[in-house]
Amino acid sequence: MTDGNNKAGTFPCRICGGTVREWFDFGPQPISNAFTSADDPAALVRYDLVVGLCDGCTMVQQREECAREEMFRPDYPYRASGSALMCKYFEEVAEHLVSTELTGPDPFLVEIGSNDGVMLRTVRSAGIRHLGVDPSRDAAEVAAAEGVRVRVDFFEESTAASIRADEGAADVIFSANTISHISYIDSILRGVATLLAPRGVFVFEDRYLGDIVERSCFDQLYDEHFYLFAARSVQAMLARFGLELVDVEHRDVHGGTVRYTVALAGARTPTPAVATMLERERRQGLAEFATYEAFATRIDTIRDELVALLTRLHDEGKRVVGYGATSKSATVTNYCGIGPELVPFVCDSTAAKQGRLAPGSGIPVRPQEVFSDPYPAYALLFAWNHADEIMTKEHTFAERGGRWIQYVPTVHIS
Ligand code: SAH
Ligand code: TYD
Ligand code: ZN
Repeated sequence: MTDGNNKAGTFPCRICGGTVREWFDFGPQPISNAFTSADDPAALVRYDLVVGLCDGCTMVQQREECAREEMFRPDYPYRASGSALMCKYFEEVAEHLVSTELTGPDPFLVEIGSNDGVMLRTVRSAGIRHLGVDPSRDAAEVAAAEGVRVRVDFFEESTAASIRADEGAADVIFSANTISHISYIDSILRGVATLLAPRGVFVFEDRYLGDIVERSCFDQLYDEHFYLFAARSVQAMLARFGLELVDVEHRDVHGGTVRYTVALAGARTPTPAVATMLERERRQGLAEFATYEAFATRIDTIRDELVALLTRLHDEGKRVVGYGATSKSATVTNYCGIGPELVPFVCDSTAAKQGRLAPGSGIPVRPQEVFSDPYPAYALLFAWNHADEIMTKEHTFAERGGRWIQYVPTVHIS
């Protein structure tokens, strides 16, 4: 097995045209949400997951991109409402936007990547004019069944122009865990600048690079996380499109997230939180290549320790079951070479994933109820970002002597 670090290659930056230096090569990886049956051609699609740091604008980004139609198919299985914590979180996000930004006459909110309506259902209940845009038809149907308005489409510049023509400017454009997925981000940002009302805000949130590096969460790297955002790279990117970063807020969800608030350049005064985060990133060395070389070494240590642990447990005849068929787990299983011989199945509450095989690894996905029937000796917690919720729900497992295995920030058993 070759190590992913020691990469000397470069490629051009998608944002500024500068030179991106590669710092990790995970090798051929599957589409992380392509939960398949054994004979499905999607099971065969692979691309090289290579990640680098731009010398110019400091954006961390991938070299290769997957076709958007392959990643976000009509039957895309991810459901944002699969976590009680995230349901509550997005309800609060919506209530906050409604009470702060949507108080004028006939306000209008557009969400990019509305999925199953986890955020918009609260906006709808408040009687606010809204539109979700999401290409994932099955998820959009779940939202529509709750009375949420969704356009089944990819948001891009042309979509923004047609929404503006049909429904007017947006007071808020919101997006969670979607903007970083979109390689053609220039089209998105031109669309945002077109659609936004003069005093409107674009509020988006994504996994935070600072946390990924600090907590060694290498599993946050997979096809959909094309960019890994930080305040500095986001600020530089926005400036190229007449937009300005006016606020940042760190949240703990999904292993560390930052919410960026963006206005048309000059429309609002940035809060002190922006400068504070930029200074913290400078101290953390997020613009320094050496930071990523050190991270690369930690990734391979985690891989080696995790494989050694699972192999030892297998040899001792201990049963290990996966918990949470996350997108993130695609990188862990495929980079570490973990298949059904080490982890015979993974439990997940998402109906659209059950009965299918996890991408690349071929690990079968079974319903959550199977976990206790009977309990395994160990559970490998792929959904570590939902650890509190899952460990509370499954408290009987630990009470009966079951142990949880986690691998970030280091391999550990609890
Ligand atoms: N906002 C939800 C869902 C995130 S999953 C949450 O935070 O949990 C990402 C979603 O983005 C998917 O539903 C996917 O279909 C959608 N998506 C991907 N590209 C998109 C685009 N160009 N425009 C709108 N939605 C997009
Ligand atoms: P998540 O970590 O939210 O996202 P990603 O796919 O981006 O890595 O995925 C959590 C997965 O775990 C999702 O498939 C639902 C599943 N899950 C359970 O099976 N049980 C639970 O109690 C929770 C909270 C999640
Ligand atoms: Zn750049």
